Amino acid sequence: MESTPIENIFAPVKLGPVHLRNRVIKAATFEGMAVKNLVSEALIDFHVAFAKGGIGMTTLAYCAISPDGQGAPNEIVIREEAVPGLHRFVEQMHALDVAASIQLGHAGPVGIGTGGRGLSASKVLAKQRMKKTYAASSEDLSEVIQDFVTATKLSASAGFDCIELHFGHGYLVSNFLSPKLNKRQDQWGGSIENRARLSREIANRVRDAAPDTMAVIAKLNMDDGVKGGLKIDESIAVAQILERDGSLDAIELSGGSSFENPMYLFRGDVPVNEMAAIFPKALRVPFKLTAKKFMPFYPFEEAFFLEYARSFRQALTMPLILLGGINKRQTVETAVAEGFEFVAMGRALLREPDLVNRWVNGINDDGVCIHCNKCMPSIYQGTHCYLVPVEERPGHAKWPPQPSNRI
Ligand SMILES: Cc1cc2nc3c(=O)[nH]c(=O)nc-3n(C[C@H](O)[C@H](O)[C@H](O)COP(=O)(O)O)c2cc1C
Ligand code: SF4
Repeated sequence: MESTPIENIFAPVKLGPVHLRNRVIKAATFEGMAVKNLVSEALIDFHVAFAKGGIGMTTLAYCAISPDGQGAPNEIVIREEAVPGLHRFVEQMHALDVAASIQLGHAGPVGIGTGGRGLSASKVLAKQRMKKTYAASSEDLSEVIQDFVTATKLSASAGFDCIELHFGHGYLVSNFLSPKLNKRQDQWGGSIENRARLSREIANRVRDAAPDTMAVIAKLNMDDGVKGGLKIDESIAVAQILERDGSLDAIELSGGSSFENPMYLFRGDVPVNEMAAIFPKALRVPFKLTAKKFMPFYPFEEAFFLEYARSFRQALTMPLILLGGINKRQTVETAVAEGFEFVAMGRALLREPDLVNRWVNGINDDGVCIHCNKCMPSIYQGTHCYLVPVEERPGHAKWPPQPSNRI
């Protein structure tokens, strides 16, 4: 694979049919700023800050393809009514020369589901909700696939440049990929080909539904970080199947599970007290007592997924997006030199929305995110970095919203 000359790491690049001014993608960090499951002014302002900060493409994060696919409060649910706000969002990004991606997913066992019971491959206890999930029927899965298609068409009509399919983090598609959680004996379970069927069906149907001008990418777990879960040999096999199908323009490489092992996808400090504060008072102490088991500590390392991602790079020829703990310009150089076409950055940009501009302008200081992870529970108050003063937090001038700044 040809490597890009190091001096060009911030040069324009194409993601499938889409032109990006550079290869840095703002990773999905759910904003928690939708109002009535619709785009708000605060949500747009949130992304304007990153767009002004120099990235090539931003990701409007977790948007549910259906009401039962929601994972948290204040999420966008894709439907006709959401399109005008989504269109406003895209217009604002384009005015700043930044491409707009929308992350579409079904939260599955992590989600609110129907009557508080999440959808999953097999029936399992969802500890977060203290309720059993229900195993999807073939009809449920046909509906989910159709909802992805409808959400794609609506996103295209709003002008999005890219669809990011959420196939990771223990959400519905990731749940089907897991040999631990998918115990089905029908065409959706068992062999890796069967467990990958849902991801393929969605990717292929979304590709068919998306206009030729739109990129389609997927966020995929390399390792669930869970005993008995999806491991790298099988996740590479899934990626190879997806590559052969040819429906995706890139794969973003992630890991961990919001359902079973959230800290695996973040690394760094475990924000036990801040997480406990989200729960009703009676549940705070039990949460703190069990948190160590549910949220074990993984030390933070720069580019913590690089080692696994290298195995993907060797096994695939399609474009890949390196994600996870990127805080240094040098890491972007390494990624490019090793054949990763894109990098995605989450917390480093929450901490410093203008970090990429600094690098583009030759100021090569490292990002100053301290991996305290206190931004994780901030999704319930409008996502922010705790170290950024309130008045400087992206979107916070309009959050919580007053009637005058709802759209
Ligand atoms: C506050 C917050 C919210 C997040 N929300 C999402 C999300 O909606 N969808 C998703 O796929 N990942 C989400 N993530 C995970 C990030 O996209 C990324 O995978 C993770 O933070 C590791 O990248 P980083 O080290 O650059 O932050 C979130 C991360 C944070 C910190
Ligand atoms: S709260 Fe700020 S410093 Fe802490 S991990 Fe999140 S972005 Fe980094």
